[in-house]
Amino acid sequence: MSLLRVGVLASGRGSNLQAIIDACREGKIPAQVVVVLSDKEGAFALTRAAKEGIPAIHLNPQSFPGKEEYERAVSAVLKDHRVELVCLAGYMRLVGKTILDAFPNRVINIHPALLPAFPGLHGQRQALEYGVRFSGCTVHFVDEGCDTGPIILQAVVPVLDTDTEETLAARILEQEHRLYPEAIKLFAEGRLKIEGRRVLIKN
Ligand code: GAR
Repeated sequence: MSLLRVGVLASGRGSNLQAIIDACREGKIPAQVVVVLSDKEGAFALTRAAKEGIPAIHLNPQSFPGKEEYERAVSAVLKDHRVELVCLAGYMRLVGKTILDAFPNRVINIHPALLPAFPGLHGQRQALEYGVRFSGCTVHFVDEGCDTGPIILQAVVPVLDTDTEETLAARILEQEHRLYPEAIKLFAEGRLKIEGRRVLIKN
């Protein structure tokens, strides 16, 4: 079976990127990361990619007249590398129509909360401040809203009385590193079917 060609967009430290790369390398998922793109010049995600011999590209949004032009450039890089699935991994920008039209139903994201609770920034802090007993993470298809697309997989973790934002984030992150490769595996195996808001998993 040929390997699914994955492009990753990341803005920060790239620990989810690393989990995806490792799972691919270990043969746990029939995929390969073929390009990593960041909107942030010094993103550690780019360093990780370069270290793995994966093309690591910085595109500065400020160098483009607007979001559409920036997204056209991002899409062109992804297309150049014949990307079949775009994974957002700590990509701190709202993906718009240009990228979504270029990759219909082929953009997925991981969010550090049980959506639809606590979308947007600081999902872990929002959960702690709200006082929920459980939080977790969600892998979902991306649509034009903020963390509103159809949900692929979720993992639950307890929120402890002693938790700080950091300890809760660490507990969730451990699950993120397991869940994201699992979702990519399902996609690569052609087992995901979107029906309205629901994602059905075949077999
Ligand atoms: C992760 O916790 C991810 O879920 C979150 O950013 C972190 C990136 O960490 N994403 C969002 O909050 C998106 N709304 P990483 O760079 O180490 O993968």
